[in-house]
Amino acid sequence: MKDLNFKRHRRLRSSDAMRSMIRETFLRKEDLIYPLFVIEGENIKNEVNSMPGVYQISLDLLNDEIQSVVELGIPSVILFGIPAEKDAVGKGAYCDHGIVQKATRQIKESYPDLIVIADTCLCEFTDHGHCGVIENGQIVNDPTLKLLADTAVSQAKAGADIIAPSNMMDGFVAAIRKGLDEAGFEHIPIMSYAVKYASAFYGPFRDAAGSAPQFGDRKTYQMDPANRLEAFREAQSDIEEGADFLIVKPALSYLDIIRDVRDRFNAPIVAYNVSGEYAMIKAAALNDWVDEKRIVLESLTSMKRAGADLIITYFAKDVVKWLNEGK
Ligand code: PBG
Repeated sequence: MKDLNFKRHRRLRSSDAMRSMIRETFLRKEDLIYPLFVIEGENIKNEVNSMPGVYQISLDLLNDEIQSVVELGIPSVILFGIPAEKDAVGKGAYCDHGIVQKATRQIKESYPDLIVIADTCLCEFTDHGHCGVIENGQIVNDPTLKLLADTAVSQAKAGADIIAPSNMMDGFVAAIRKGLDEAGFEHIPIMSYAVKYASAFYGPFRDAAGSAPQFGDRKTYQMDPANRLEAFREAQSDIEEGADFLIVKPALSYLDIIRDVRDRFNAPIVAYNVSGEYAMIKAAALNDWVDEKRIVLESLTSMKRAGADLIITYFAKDVVKWLNEGK
């Protein structure tokens, strides 16, 4: 093989030490946001069928869970609520004694430094399971905006550090920003689910939150998975309306979109590693078909490599344990 001219890439992969010298992307515990499902009632810790290791937790058991999150050094949680009762207009979302408001108050009282993000949506609180108000069988946009602004304000009043609207009505960021500002919460940031696709990967979440639509689907408000340019339009309008963070959701099948949004916008980008992504890995891992630790760390590192600054993930606690093992 004389005179063969080629490049020796393997020189830089020769040992652990060499590989870590040239590593480009890091996953840190500071990058992680841990989702929690809080439920009305007492002494409840229900494991979600399709999400082993994820629980609906009542408030009396919540502090133990929060304690473990804080001990691991995870800086932030995002709260989803399961109310005792649902109605057509989702009152439980914006009532000051709603489950998310109560959980927020309780957490901030004992753990003032933990960042509490409140998911702002109606679907967990409406009996029809849609994210907006229904008139004549249609999910109507503008009447929903006021309810979302009310929800955000009551969450901020309860002590939420960040408002995360996920409902995909047009103008939701503008309405929430105005509502927060008028109520004296101009300092509270909005983490917008700006680029949210109508995805089959949310299936297990709807088991966890009891929020499956009772008729139809979410395709008139969530995005078509086939679209890329539409993601720019969504992110652009949310930034103009006052979003401080941009979420791309789901994550794994949308790494190209994370990269695109990262390259075009300078706001912090958040990848949502959604319930279906979690469930698929868990199911395979429970069968010993894949190495859970390696597959999770690889997936989450890929989201960061694609350009995410932060990752919302049900794996957050495991990830910190695994990262600590590596030390
Ligand atoms: C509420 C909401 C959903 C998720 C986050 N917020 C469900 C949906 O839009 O149907 C999904 C999260 C996940 O799948 O992990 N609108």
